[in-house]
Amino acid sequence: MLGGSGTVGSAVCEALAGAGAVVAFTFLHGEDRAAALAARITGAVALRADLVQPAEVEAAVDRAEAALGGVDVLVHAAGASLGAPPDGRLPLAAVDVAAWDRVMAVNARAVFVAVRRLVPVFERAGGGEVVLIGSVDAVKPIAAPVHHAASKAALRGMTASLAKELGPHNVRVNMVAPGLLEAGLSREVPEELRREYLKHSGARRFGKAAEIATLVRFLAMENTYVTGQALAADGGL
Ligand SMILES: NC(=O)c1ccc[n+]([C@@H]2O[C@H](COP(=O)([O-])OP(=O)(O)OC[C@H]3O[C@@H](n4cnc5c(N)ncnc54)[C@H](OP(=O)(O)O)[C@@H]3O)[C@@H](O)[C@H]2O)c1
Repeated sequence: MLGGSGTVGSAVCEALAGAGAVVAFTFLHGEDRAAALAARITGAVALRADLVQPAEVEAAVDRAEAALGGVDVLVHAAGASLGAPPDGRLPLAAVDVAAWDRVMAVNARAVFVAVRRLVPVFERAGGGEVVLIGSVDAVKPIAAPVHHAASKAALRGMTASLAKELGPHNVRVNMVAPGLLEAGLSREVPEELRREYLKHSGARRFGKAAEIATLVRFLAMENTYVTGQALAADGGL
């Protein structure tokens, strides 16, 4: 699990562990959250890794395989902070090149690096499941910061491409595309957009990390035939 210390990531770790999986997950700055999560989950392995650094992504994969004795699921739930301006605007001009590079590296490039490293690991395991946490902005036209939207569109493309390429190796690749959730990175979405979102959501509420985790658990642990899909979990936007 890449990004286990986050809101969505920790809910996914708990859901997978609750269904019997042994979990290794990464964290970066959330050392306390990672330690608390590892204490709640029997046998969990917490690995510090900066996903901006490809070598650290590869090392995390290697350490997870060594610690668990094999890996047959990858969930990517890390998401870089968008660096939103304090006045809550999302203008193009507020996204500098450094923010673009960081968001693309954490949200998208880390998946490419991890999956490339995992192919032989999955082969040793007899197959695998890859579940990417995307975002509704990759599958429906909603207002979103340009670097975030671009990174999630990249995940959508990787989902389709990798599903085709890795399918013959018994590896399925899917993306879950959450709408706005109660917590986590939604804290960076301006209030005006949050209100607008609720007006258009059939459920008339934000989602819960546990609701995303339930879908991820299905894809990671019960799925045998769904692949290449982007599944929106947005309360009916
Ligand atoms: N929350 C929402 O409303 C929402 C809606 C749609 C999609 N999503 C997607 O869900 C995913 C998770 O979001 P969240 O809400 O759970 O966010 P979050 O609570 O802020 O968690 C972000 C996670 O990403 C990790 N991370 C960030 N930069 C990193 C880096 N350079 N290296 C390693 N790890 C890094 C964080 O690690 P540390 O904290 O340990 O540094 C943390 O585990 C994101 O991809 C996001 O786009 C969220």
